[in-house]
Amino acid sequence: MPSPGLQTILILSKDHEKYSDVNWDELEFGVVPTDYMYTMKCSKGDEFSQGHLTPYGNIELSPSAGGLFEGLKANRTEDGRFLLFRPEENALRMKMGAERMCMPSPFPQQFLDAVKQTVLANKRWVPPTGKGTLYLRPLLMGSGSVLGLGPAPEYTFLIFASPVGSYHKGRAALNLYVEDKLHRATPGGTGGIKSITNYSPVYLAQKQARAKGFSDVLFLDSLTGKYIEEITACNIFILKGNVISTPTIIHGTVLPGITRKSVIDIARDFGYQVEERVIPVEDLLEADEAFCTGTAVVVTPIGAVTYQDRRVEYKTGKGALSQKLYETITGIQTGRLEDKKGWTMEI
Ligand code: COI
Repeated sequence: MPSPGLQTILILSKDHEKYSDVNWDELEFGVVPTDYMYTMKCSKGDEFSQGHLTPYGNIELSPSAGGLFEGLKANRTEDGRFLLFRPEENALRMKMGAERMCMPSPFPQQFLDAVKQTVLANKRWVPPTGKGTLYLRPLLMGSGSVLGLGPAPEYTFLIFASPVGSYHKGRAALNLYVEDKLHRATPGGTGGIKSITNYSPVYLAQKQARAKGFSDVLFLDSLTGKYIEEITACNIFILKGNVISTPTIIHGTVLPGITRKSVIDIARDFGYQVEERVIPVEDLLEADEAFCTGTAVVVTPIGAVTYQDRRVEYKTGKGALSQKLYETITGIQTGRLEDKKGWTMEI
């Protein structure tokens, strides 16, 4: 049975059985806009139901739909200033990701101007100090029409902003499941760039782990399944004695996190030896402490990990290194601590 929309169109259109004006002998594999397209939406937890035909044309898309993206935060200081944290690093990372995806990217200066303008235009949404931050999501997406395989003929860069509280409610310590069947990244792939292709492969594993009561998932390397790589939305660190280790980014399977980079510097200042290396899962199981880092999670302690049948618990809370790192980095980000490294940018 044709849908009601189609019936209406067939009755109204006198020309629908004639050929349209196309040179059929020169037909290539590209977009030739036709009369109608079909759209059907499905919200989370629901099913696809009645769709409809509309004339072929641009669609409305939420600015928060996926693509190649960045994440950074603007903080309000006690004395009313607005601080960004290492925004030039986000500009460079977007450029690097765009090169991998054959997309054009804004120049770093254009990126920074756009970030500043977005914050200033949304000042009233920056939470009071200590209550949260204004999360900025720069997004780069192919917005031109394309049918075959290849870069889009047009791109859109946008930034939207949203006030946010902590990523994990109350900064609760994570109860991690170590996933040993599904993988998120492979050497030479896109695990090291901030593209949605780095995140969408984690959803199924995350859904399965959450159904078993875990808070999140840690992925292993896809070649051997022996080494820890990354949590769904953040980097991981382990501490053993005076040595802090984090998975190396050199294979392109781990995101070069800006918080990760900052934590490495701060931990060295604290006197720890920090190693970026390949980390066997056994080292995680024998660690004194484990924590994750990212713009969204900042520094969040890992309370426990479960790998196959083994569950290990770690030190968290007051006295833990993760707490000290969290206090230091948020202190710099909010202007509570002196920024000796020149990481913050006032706007
Ligand atoms: C961030 O930490 O800012 C991220 O982009 C991770 C995320 C997917 C929430």
